[in-house]
Amino acid sequence: MGLVLADDVLGRGLQRIQQEVDAAFDAFLPVPQDSRARLVEAMRHAAIGGGKRVRPLLLVTVAEMYGASRVAAVRAGCAVEAIHAYSLVHDDLPCMDDDDLRHGKPTVHKAFDEATAVLAGDSLHALAFELLADNQVSPDPFIRAELVHALASASGHNGMAGGQMMDMLADSAALDLHTVTRLQQLKTGALLGAAVEMGAILGRVQEEGRGHLRAYARDIGLAFQITDDLLDHEGDEAKAGKALRKDAEQGKATFVSLMGPAKAREQARALSDQAVGHLAGHGQEAELLRALAKFVVERDR
Ligand code: IPE
Ligand code: IPE
Ligand code: MG
Ligand code: MG
Ligand code: MG
Repeated sequence: MGLVLADDVLGRGLQRIQQEVDAAFDAFLPVPQDSRARLVEAMRHAAIGGGKRVRPLLLVTVAEMYGASRVAAVRAGCAVEAIHAYSLVHDDLPCMDDDDLRHGKPTVHKAFDEATAVLAGDSLHALAFELLADNQVSPDPFIRAELVHALASASGHNGMAGGQMMDMLADSAALDLHTVTRLQQLKTGALLGAAVEMGAILGRVQEEGRGHLRAYARDIGLAFQITDDLLDHEGDEAKAGKALRKDAEQGKATFVSLMGPAKAREQARALSDQAVGHLAGHGQEAELLRALAKFVVERDR
C-alpha cells in the first residue's frame, strides 16, 4: 500500500505534517558562517526530508482534537522528531547497527564522518528541549515543564535509550516474548507514547482523561515495532530507504524471530484493531488517529 494512496485522510495528514516539519527544521537550523557549519549541515541531513513524521502527526492530531493551536503543536512535534532523528543517527553508527542508508540517503556518518554524526545526534537531542522550553510552545510554564518531563522520561534509560541497550544485548541473550515486548515498548513505544501524551498535555487533557489515549499509544507502539521487524524480514529496501534483512543477519530476537512472520503480522493487526477500539468514545475528530493505527501495520516503509 502506497504512503499517500493508503487513505485520503491519512495521505493528506502525512503530506501536510511532512511539509510543516521540514519547513520548521529548515528555519530552526540556519547554517553558521564558521566551522560549526559541518555540524549543522549534518543535523539538517538527519532532520530534513525522508521521515514519515508519524510522531509529530500523532502529537498534532491529539493536540488539535482537544483544541490546542496547530503552530504550537508542530513545534512540540519537532521536538519529538528531533529526538527520533538523533536516535536514528546514533542507531546507524558502526558501533550500533552499522548502516549506510537511511531515508534513501547515506547515513550521517557516511555522508560526513563518525565524530560529526555523534555531535549531530547530541545537538538534535539538545534542540528538542530547547524547542520545548521556549514560550512559543505554550505561554504556560507548567505546560512547558510537563512537556519537557514527558519527552525526557521517554528518551533516556527508562525509555528509548534503555530499549536500545536491551536491543544491543538482544543477540547474545536468549530472549523470550515477554522480554522482547518490554524491549520494544522502550525502544519504540516510549517515544510514540510521548507524542500522544504531549498532544494531551497541549490540549490540557486532565490526567484522568488520558487513559484511553495511553492505551491507544501502547498498542500502536508495539504494532509499529512489530511491523518494522516484519519489514526488515520481508520488505522492499528501495521503498524502506534503509538496509533490510539485518535482524536475522545479526541474530536479533524480535517478534518475527520468536513467532514467525505470519503470527507476528496477526499480532500487529490485532493490536491495531485494539488501538482503534480505545477510541470508541470519540467521533469524527479521531478519524485520523484511527487511520494512523491502520497505517502503522499496513505501511511499506
Ligand atoms: C524507525 O522509525 C525506527 C524505529 C523506531 C522502528 P520510523 O519508521 O518512524 O522512521 P522514519 O519514518 O524513517 O523516520
Ligand atoms: C531503532 O530500531 C529504534 C531506535 C530507537 C532508533 P531499529 O534499529 O530496528 O530501526 P531501523 O530498522 O534501523 O530503522
Ligand atoms: Mg537498532
Ligand atoms: Mg537500526
Ligand atoms: Mg528495524
